[in-house]
Amino acid sequence: MDELLTYRKEFPILQHTTYMISHSLGAMPRQVYERLHEYADMWATRGIRAWEEGWWEMPVTTGDKIARILGADPGSVVVHQNVSICQSIILSCFNLRQKRNKIVYEALNFPSVMYVYAAHAKAADARVVEVPSTDGITIDTERLLAAIDEETLLVPISHVLFKSGYLQDAQAVIDKAHAVGARVVLDVYQSAGTVPIDVKQLQVDFVVGGSVKWLCGGPGAGYLYVHPALRRQLEPQVTGWMAHRAPFAFEPSEITYADDIHRFLHGSPAIATLYAAESGYDIINEIGVERIRAKSVRQTTRLIELADEQGWRVNSPRDPAKRGGTVVVDVPHAAAVVQELARREVLVDSRPGAGIRIAPHFYTEDRELDLTIKEIRNILDSRAYERYL
Ligand SMILES: Cc1ncc(COP(=O)(O)O)c(C=O)c1O
Repeated sequence: MDELLTYRKEFPILQHTTYMISHSLGAMPRQVYERLHEYADMWATRGIRAWEEGWWEMPVTTGDKIARILGADPGSVVVHQNVSICQSIILSCFNLRQKRNKIVYEALNFPSVMYVYAAHAKAADARVVEVPSTDGITIDTERLLAAIDEETLLVPISHVLFKSGYLQDAQAVIDKAHAVGARVVLDVYQSAGTVPIDVKQLQVDFVVGGSVKWLCGGPGAGYLYVHPALRRQLEPQVTGWMAHRAPFAFEPSEITYADDIHRFLHGSPAIATLYAAESGYDIINEIGVERIRAKSVRQTTRLIELADEQGWRVNSPRDPAKRGGTVVVDVPHAAAVVQELARREVLVDSRPGAGIRIAPHFYTEDRELDLTIKEIRNILDSRAYERYL
């Protein structure tokens, strides 16, 4: 008996699709309809008073729900629009025009993160060190550690790689970075909600992530955690009045930063997306990530067995301790197969050079694993993918 299946009824899309794409867009909780109605009601009936009755504080109060998922204290996470802007805020706290100006990350980092760091580094003549992957699936931890030295400023890495589902040894990276005076920015977009995270144990400097995927929170709710001990040492240049100690004093000229996590906000928040995002966090917190992980390990292991039976190459780690929630299978014409699968109400995606990404989540039935593999087999055998080539 799989107790987590009782949550299936909370997700309307599961009634008519095989939803194996939570690494890309988690299913929408039914409750979101009500929360968005609540938002509209608040605006319609409370008007301007809504700001002081909850809206103004929402980037932090919503952040508290995410903090629970990360093992962080309340008041240590703020919600922004996405990971890219969170990375820019972090970068804006540091001076890249100094001897310690090296940015080190893995070659399989999420490209948008690379764009942010590479652009800033270029403008400031700083150095970016990209640690290569020899197999396109994993990153050699020793090699990554060796690249982090006394001239390294920041190490922005993905906890779980988007392309292969490889789960990095974040602790080893954080320990090495701290030993040489560097800071780590851990992007947990592909791990939070499916792999347990304990920021206190990790002692990580920054955490960024978003809600679109495993957290089932929809687009527009990226988040930023800053280690409490680090907070007051930093002065973000990407800033705004919400980061001011007394925003409603409307003081002109230079900002006086808030001492708490508000320091990492900027301008007026996107309130509707916060209403939409919270239902997913509530469900994840209610279940607990440990239980989600146990099921994910069981189902991803089964998926690998099924792919092996078909003779397809698996482009994800076989060791569950090194794997997040996604299994990537390399089949011919992956992008076209994905389109035909969608027509058949089986939702997955593909990434160039990797294959089809398949992700069960806590709401996935075991029979859906078999069905997904069976449909791929059928599409390949019948050449039904050809119409998309
Ligand atoms: C590891 C990782 N980081 C970041 C992102 C997305 O970044 P953003 O929130 O800026 O769109 C993704 C989404 O696909 C991702 O997988």
